[in-house]
Parts: sequence; C-alpha cells; structure tokens
Amino acid sequence: VTRQTNRVHELLTAAVRRGDTAVDATAGNGHDTIVLARLVGPTGRVFSFDLQDEAIAATAAAVASLSHVTLIRDSHANLKAHVAGPIAAATFNLGYRPGGDRTFVTRPESTVAGLVAAGELLRPGGIVTVVSYVGHAGGSDEAAAVAAFVWSLDPTQWHVDWHLEPNPRSPKLCVVRKR
Ligand SMILES: C[S@@+](CC[C@H](N)C(=O)[O-])C[C@H]1O[C@@H](n2cnc3c(N)ncnc32)[C@H](O)[C@@H]1O
Repeated sequence: VTRQTNRVHELLTAAVRRGDTAVDATAGNGHDTIVLARLVGPTGRVFSFDLQDEAIAATAAAVASLSHVTLIRDSHANLKAHVAGPIAAATFNLGYRPGGDRTFVTRPESTVAGLVAAGELLRPGGIVTVVSYVGHAGGSDEAAAVAAFVWSLDPTQWHVDWHLEPNPRSPKLCVVRKR
C-alpha cells in the first residue's frame, strides 16, 4: 500500500458516511472497494467498475460476504448508465492492475469521461480522488489529461487539492471536492 493509497483512504473516510452511495471506478483487486463498503455500511451501496474479467473476479472474491457491493464489468466512462446520484465519493486508481496484465491500462479519454460523469453525480461536499501514475507507457499522457481536466474546472464550484511527492516519478493524487 503506497502513501498515496493511505491518503486516499483517509480522505474517503472523512467524506463518506453510513448509508451513502460511493463508486470505485477501477476495482482492480478490490482493495478500495472493501474500504468503501466498510464506510457506507450495509445500508449504503458501492458500485465498482472494471473492464477486466480477472479484476471483477478478484473483487468479487474480496467482497464475497458483502451484499451491498455491485460489480459492473463496464468502463467507468459509462458510469451514468449504471449509477444514479447523488454519490458521496468516487475513487479512480489509474494504470494497470497490480499482479495482472501490465499492458491493460486505463486510458486518457475514458478516464476523463469517467471523471466528468463522477463529477456530475457527486453531492455537494463529495469528493473524487484520482491517483495517476507516470511509470508505464501512456502514463504521463494520462496524468497530463487528468491535470488538464482538473485545471479546467470552475473554481467557484470545485475545490482542487494536489498531493504531489518530491519525486516526479511518484504517483500523483488529485482530490476534487464539489463545493
Ligand atoms: C490500478 S488498478 C486498480 C486497483 C484497485 N483500486 C485496487 O485497490 O486493487 C486499475 C484498474 O482499472 C481497470 N480499468 C482500465 N480501464 C478501465 C475503464 N475504462 N473502466 C473501468 N476500469 C478500467 C483495469 O482493468 C485495472 O484493474
């Protein structure tokens, strides 16, 4: 678990209450889904997206005992086809699935489409977290697309926090909060 992942979990813990709806936009191995499922509790709901069967299977195994998690094998670009707002939080952990196919990565266009959709579903005070990686092919282009999207947001409606490490190769965490 990286420092940025711990920060994401702290931020989600502050933003999500029992009974809320939350989104894991990149289910992967299910670690963030488990955190969200604990936070919303059995009266809430978590929607977890991934395009890879292996990721859906890994997340299904991780949350086997939790009936308030809905797994969706579709792109987070199609978020609004599956989830009705308002949502308390959406978390995007970009790149490839740890332990999985390193060439199957999130892509700038679908990532930004997912961020737009998550922003539209977010309740006031809700957050979208995005961790971008620059170490893999296409990673820095994606990180640049995320940054361009975030900088385009209207500052009267959105509060943006960047959590950057001194090392430019480290994961970059951006937190967007709806005012
Ligand atoms: C870094 S991993 C996520 C790790 C996960 N949050 C965890 O805790 O284990 C990124 C995941 O995004 C998935 N992915 C790639 N493109 C996607 C898309 N358009 N929509 C949803 N998931 C996507 C990949 O299949 C991969 O499993």
